[in-house]
Amino acid sequence: MAKPVLLITRRLPQDVEARATRDYEARLTASDIPMPRDVLLRRVQGADAVLTCPGDHFGAELIGMLPDSVKVIGTFSVGYDHVDVMAAHGRGIAVCNTPDVLSLATAECALLLILAASRRAGEGERLIRAGNWDGWAPTQLMGVGAAGRKLGIFGMGRIGRELARLARGIGMTIHYRDVARLPEALEAGAIYHDSDAGFLAECEVLSLNAPGGGSTRHWLNAARIAMLPRGAVVVNAARGTLVDDVALIAALRSGQVAYAGLDVYDGEPKVHPGYLELENVVLLPHLGSATVATRDAMGFKVLDGIDAVLAGRVPDNLVR
Ligand code: DGY
Repeated sequence: MAKPVLLITRRLPQDVEARATRDYEARLTASDIPMPRDVLLRRVQGADAVLTCPGDHFGAELIGMLPDSVKVIGTFSVGYDHVDVMAAHGRGIAVCNTPDVLSLATAECALLLILAASRRAGEGERLIRAGNWDGWAPTQLMGVGAAGRKLGIFGMGRIGRELARLARGIGMTIHYRDVARLPEALEAGAIYHDSDAGFLAECEVLSLNAPGGGSTRHWLNAARIAMLPRGAVVVNAARGTLVDDVALIAALRSGQVAYAGLDVYDGEPKVHPGYLELENVVLLPHLGSATVATRDAMGFKVLDGIDAVLAGRVPDNLVR
């Protein structure tokens, strides 16, 4: 029997491509950048499924142009703000993603940003690489510790809760804001806030862990930044669209925000040039889930979802 056809829009880890090739007539690519639309529309003809990634935008228009043969779009990510799910459903196309398997890796990245920003690791690295380090000095690059500080988590989903668990381990107290309070067992002692003002006033360190999309776009704006305690630390390993960059850059200049750590950017791979001029921000290139084991697990999870949809089953990673 002929294998189903799977278009893969980006180069994937070797073991993931091997499984895809074993089970599908896999149309692979060697490219690490989003597939141009004309190439995609040519290569998707006759495909049963598409495996895509953040950065490849499956908006309503593109989805409307997919051939009827496509039954499922799987995204190699937990976030699916780059896929117009309503448009897909409107065409009878299922969407699946990669929840759970990247929570720990992404939470580790958020903790890395908290520590790197608070302890001025980016500045220290740049000092050495520029050949300007004259040796240890009592007042050199003094930052702030994370232990004993209050961490506010905006978005207490799987990644937020994993970050809370890690941060408790270094002595941080956890506050959180979400659309509703979690059951006590999931809260694990974290303090819920039902207003932005009450929440932000507690955030000595603020970590953004909410999904992207229209409802959270520029959530961290000038008005909310003004509600933070002066000298707060802000980190974002979720989606760049959560932050109004102009407002955050102004706050980093004025000292309202002392340090920031960013892994994601509004309009990435473009980074607002204002950040590049600032010493008190540490910048990573969207590394949240980038461990070998996690990226394999993400690939297997999305393939599980595609397998299930094509076999007429409902996968646990179906986006509803
Ligand atoms: C996701 O999964 O949504 C990340 O942004 C990539 O790991």
